[in-house]
Amino acid sequence: SWTSEGFVEATVRELREKLGDDKVVLALSGGVDSSVAAVLLHKAIGKNLYCVFVDSGLLRKNEFGEVLESYKHMGLNVKGVNASAKFLGDLAGVTDPERKRKIIGRDFVEVFNEEAIQIKDVKWLAQGTIYPDVIESCSVNGPSATIKSHHNVGGLPEKMNLKIVEPLRLLFKDEVRRVGRSMGISEQLIGRHPFPGPGLAIRILGDITPEKVEILQNVDKIYIDSLRAAGLYDQVWQAGAVLLPVKSVGVMGDERTYESCVALRAVTSTDGMTADWVHLPYEFLANVSNDIINKVKGVNRVVYDISSKPPATIEWE
Ligand code: XMP
Repeated sequence: SWTSEGFVEATVRELREKLGDDKVVLALSGGVDSSVAAVLLHKAIGKNLYCVFVDSGLLRKNEFGEVLESYKHMGLNVKGVNASAKFLGDLAGVTDPERKRKIIGRDFVEVFNEEAIQIKDVKWLAQGTIYPDVIESCSVNGPSATIKSHHNVGGLPEKMNLKIVEPLRLLFKDEVRRVGRSMGISEQLIGRHPFPGPGLAIRILGDITPEKVEILQNVDKIYIDSLRAAGLYDQVWQAGAVLLPVKSVGVMGDERTYESCVALRAVTSTDGMTADWVHLPYEFLANVSNDIINKVKGVNRVVYDISSKPPATIEWE
């Protein structure tokens, strides 16, 4: 029967045979799949695996620095690239969700390519593709999904003559997690909620500005930290906050305020295709709402999304 240890042993052996002394480049997203793929490849070929981790400026608060540190801690040969100015510049004024996704996908490929081209004699592009991606059901992947959808349209593999290696392509998500755990990847990384490739860009409805990103990062951090502190994080499949393009009236002291509204979302799901909203305890919601309104300047109202998928989706864009 299938065991994660057996999978790791057999895959490391196969990767060594297949890759020899070749150099391999891989985009890390901070998500489970690309992280597990990287650690597996690193086990097989060590420093010949070159990882690139791009900061789009649209990740969770402090996430880029923290995740980059944990990648380095795992011994990965990783380069962090801060490209937030490029992403936020190109997104300025854009409100259409699909255009946001296209711009982010394109920018990501451009930034990644620029790095890959500098790796002398790189022969392979590694991806954290998993079985559900292969059969093209719902993909909850990060940037690797973006590369996938671009590599057929004159992207990196053709341009640089790269071959593709996808060590997780026969695994389901729970198997990927088991493989990750058996290689000693931290629970913090393995147990993470899915996070969309376009990041906070699709959780800021309407146009994106650095100020809005900062507001949403602060709200999201309070929400996620509270879920963890209350022991609820692992009972939820995915959670996040959405900054609405709506201002509403409030009152603070004897001043009337006119500020932003955020929606909190938490769902249970198995694959993202369908989802139910989580019945978070009222007391938890009350505390988190107070905390957000008291601590995040620019937000005076919090609502909780009680829609299931279908007919709603998990994200608002
Ligand atoms: P929806 O909103 O379609 O989301 O119910 C289902 C799952 O997919 C994630 N999602 C994305 N992931 N690129 C991604 O990599 C995207 O453009 C994207 N849009 C949605 C979403 O976070 C949820 O897990």
